[in-house]
Amino acid sequence: MIARNEKKLKHRIKEIKEKHPQANVDYIQFDFDTYNYPDENGQTQYSKLFQKIDSLEAEIVGIVNNVGILTIQPYEFMPHEVIDRMIKVNCLPAVHLTRHIIPKLLKRKSKSLILNIGAGFGEHGFPGVAVYGGTKAFIHSFTESLSSQYGGEIDVICSVPSPVESNMNPPGMKIPFSITARQHVEGTLKEIGYADQTYAHLKHDIISLIAKTPLFARELRKRQANHEEEIAKYERIRKEYQSKSTFKED
Ligand SMILES: NC(=O)c1ccc[n+]([C@@H]2O[C@H](COP(=O)([O-])OP(=O)(O)OC[C@H]3O[C@@H](n4cnc5c(N)ncnc54)[C@H](OP(=O)(O)O)[C@@H]3O)[C@@H](O)[C@H]2O)c1
Repeated sequence: MIARNEKKLKHRIKEIKEKHPQANVDYIQFDFDTYNYPDENGQTQYSKLFQKIDSLEAEIVGIVNNVGILTIQPYEFMPHEVIDRMIKVNCLPAVHLTRHIIPKLLKRKSKSLILNIGAGFGEHGFPGVAVYGGTKAFIHSFTESLSSQYGGEIDVICSVPSPVESNMNPPGMKIPFSITARQHVEGTLKEIGYADQTYAHLKHDIISLIAKTPLFARELRKRQANHEEEIAKYERIRKEYQSKSTFKED
């Protein structure tokens, strides 16, 4: 597991070990909000990360590219550094980590896994998510090409959920058709080996159908006046939730 918050990582590892004592799990603390420029020794932040990955004892049998951040904001007000950060954190880790790991996966005798986490916003437009949606469309297309190249040897799949309850979408948002993280994971796991894309839950199959209709696009435009207000409300709820409870030892 790779993330920034070491306390949270340690806690998750402990939880997994308690449930599955045989599991060979480890973590690396790393911040993907970093530029990949070489230092004076020609090393990049990612090459240091790759060295840590290679030093792990566990055999790498797959990769789940889950990291993602979201800022919802009317596009014309979005600061350039927020745009930069979203593109950097949502796209580059999947590309560089998969590139590093794929030769190891191809050497394995049994099938391996590349699971990328996309998003419904990467398939259909929505106010306030132009940049986020663009990064997720990148992940979808990236997965499709990997699947066409390596699908025979590796299960390659993109999970494309709509609202899932999490830090990104706290309970206070009350977004219709939300599912739990468990439902998302279970729905995705069922599809591995059968498809290279999944919405993971019937509710999100339905969202994906509705959101692509011209009627939906017209409705969104009619509600234009409320968009700024709604976007501001969602961002406020998310910030409040994240500042209170980024990590609870529950
Ligand atoms: N929730 C939804 O409604 C929804 C819908 C569609 C798609 N998705 C996608 O699902 C994936 C998971 O999101 P989530 O909903 O579970 O949100 P989340 O609870 O905010 O989880 C984001 C994860 O990314 C890690 N992370 C964030 N920034 C990082 C950075 N700079 N460097 C390293 N790790 C970083 C976080 O760990 P640390 O904080 O410890 O770094 C955390 O593990 C994302 O790709 C998201 O776009 C979510």
